[in-house]
Amino acid sequence: MPDPLHFDTHAEIYDRARPPYPTALWQRLHDDGLLRHGTRVIELGAGTGLATGPMLQAGASVTAIEPGPALAARLRHRWPDTTIYIDNAETVPLPTATFDLAVAATAAHWFELGIVLPRLHRTLVPNGHFAVWRNVFGDPAAPVTKFRQQVAEITAHRSDQAPPRRPAELDTDTWVERLTSSGHFITTHVEQFSWTIELSTEQIHDLFTTFSNWNAAEVDQAAQAVADLGGYVVEHYYTPLIILQRTPTPDDQPPAWEMPSK
Ligand SMILES: C[S@@+](CC[C@H](N)C(=O)[O-])C[C@H]1O[C@@H](n2cnc3c(N)ncnc32)[C@H](O)[C@@H]1O
Repeated sequence: MPDPLHFDTHAEIYDRARPPYPTALWQRLHDDGLLRHGTRVIELGAGTGLATGPMLQAGASVTAIEPGPALAARLRHRWPDTTIYIDNAETVPLPTATFDLAVAATAAHWFELGIVLPRLHRTLVPNGHFAVWRNVFGDPAAPVTKFRQQVAEITAHRSDQAPPRRPAELDTDTWVERLTSSGHFITTHVEQFSWTIELSTEQIHDLFTTFSNWNAAEVDQAAQAVADLGGYVVEHYYTPLIILQRTPTPDDQPPAWEMPSK
């Protein structure tokens, strides 16, 4: 089982190595009215603020939950307007009916969803949403590059290991099921974004160091593969986005403008 504090150990590398989320994803959240000036966001597993920054720049206020102290320190330094709690999504005290949008950017696979989903349901306003996405290195629809082949060879020995406890990172249908089966949320939108990025030998070394399931020897092999291919590779990324809406309950208070007049 990968260590969730792997990222904290490599906070400085994480901060510079992970590529940003695609512009089209932010546009989708904006166009759907979920991320606007004044939107109150709770972000779970915020890391160094890769998703926090664009949300603040869109005019949202962000309360970030991040268990890694080194990651949280970088987040605070880079985005001082963020309210930060160094805690887990499962344990952080959360106010009731306070946030418009909950976000988990490349983080939901770390949570105990049976605990986190009801907590999010409580902390969101009645019409609140939960946006879940992740950057996945290697787009399955893209042509297999020489580098990709080499990556597959480096990781081939892992096939005899026990199957992962959580659904595969690319299996959006399974994720939709996991996020909705408790009844706290329904899915309103699913979209996949495909994009490419050019990465140098050093960038691949840094990036793969941040992957929680890669060891140091494998990372060196991946970087060597890039060097052998001329020092640069164009890599294909894939970013699945799942937008969920909080399920209404009989206790929900209607918005003030819907209150019957006395
Ligand atoms: C792959 S990183 C993503 C960080 C950031 N959201 C981003 O987009 O770069 C996963 C993050 O989830 C955090 N994390 C792990 N377990 C968590 C938990 N139980 N509750 C909240 N955050 C958690 C890790 O510390 C790490 O910062």
